[in-house]
Amino acid sequence: QALDAFIEAMPKVELHLHIEGTLEPESVFRFARRNGLSLDFDSVEALRRAYEFQNLQSFLDLYNATMGVLCTEEDFYDLTWDYLARVARQNVVHTEIFFDPQGHTCRGIPFASVVGGITRALAAGQQRFGISSRLILCFWRHLSEAEALATWEQAQPHLGCFAAVGLDSSEVGNPPEKFRRVYAKARAAGLKAVAHAGEEGGPDYIWGALDALGVERIDHGVRCLEDGQLVERLVREEIPLTVCPLSNVRLRVVKNLGSHSLSRMLALGLRVCVNSDDPAYFGGYITENFLAVRKALELVPAQVLTLGRNAIDASFLDADEKTVLH
Ligand code: HPA
Ligand code: ZN
Repeated sequence: QALDAFIEAMPKVELHLHIEGTLEPESVFRFARRNGLSLDFDSVEALRRAYEFQNLQSFLDLYNATMGVLCTEEDFYDLTWDYLARVARQNVVHTEIFFDPQGHTCRGIPFASVVGGITRALAAGQQRFGISSRLILCFWRHLSEAEALATWEQAQPHLGCFAAVGLDSSEVGNPPEKFRRVYAKARAAGLKAVAHAGEEGGPDYIWGALDALGVERIDHGVRCLEDGQLVERLVREEIPLTVCPLSNVRLRVVKNLGSHSLSRMLALGLRVCVNSDDPAYFGGYITENFLAVRKALELVPAQVLTLGRNAIDASFLDADEKTVLH
């Protein structure tokens, strides 16, 4: 397949990547060992076998537990560096990375260690690999508004490190409206806003993210197709949707890749792009996601190009930086 070689060589932009979701089983053991922690799994193979999920929550239960091996600034540096070194080989040229501060501060890890390790690695990755990046602070939506506001206060000394705030974790039962006030503060401070919506939650969660939170991008958003008026709005306002095909299969948001709505979304004029979400858990980084949808949906070159260009346009790069990538 000539198109597959093109996909591999294409300079790629990733907009939906949880840095804790790049924690490979080998690294879980490496970090646990050096921090003197014991694990519930006997071996790397046993842990990898546990990467089998029924839904979003069954994934989050494991993801929230395994990130407990990340303790020191050096751990966050190494995690981020390993990710950048890997995707440099996939020709990723720009990446916008989520992190979950509450997954670490709740264990007594200082906010500054998390942000310091990640940002030092991002700067080193820019130097070594020429990969540009932005960092997005995510609030855990299963926790309270008060906890999100407290996290926002802890973020104050580091605001220059963040391009945007985001919202992740258990979607259903935790609607965007719960975070209206903390998002208003973040936007007033000059940050951009994104939110996970329409992954397991219905179209209402996407309306809420747009209207209550003022987001510029929707993460996932695949369930927008259930609401024609919403699709019309997303098309009219050119709202990007950061779709994650392998994630959707592994979390059973869709039955299989062949029934994924990505090509239908493209045909409707939605600004979709392809992303990897939590690649260590879902069986592939960005290139594997592209190759899998190319095959399952029989994408043609024009569709692949549109997906790649949508990600450039939807990024938080400056207009002149986008021009260089196009
Ligand atoms: N959805 C919600 N929360 C998450 C995800 C996701 O895809 N990945 C990591 N945290
Ligand atoms: Zn995600």
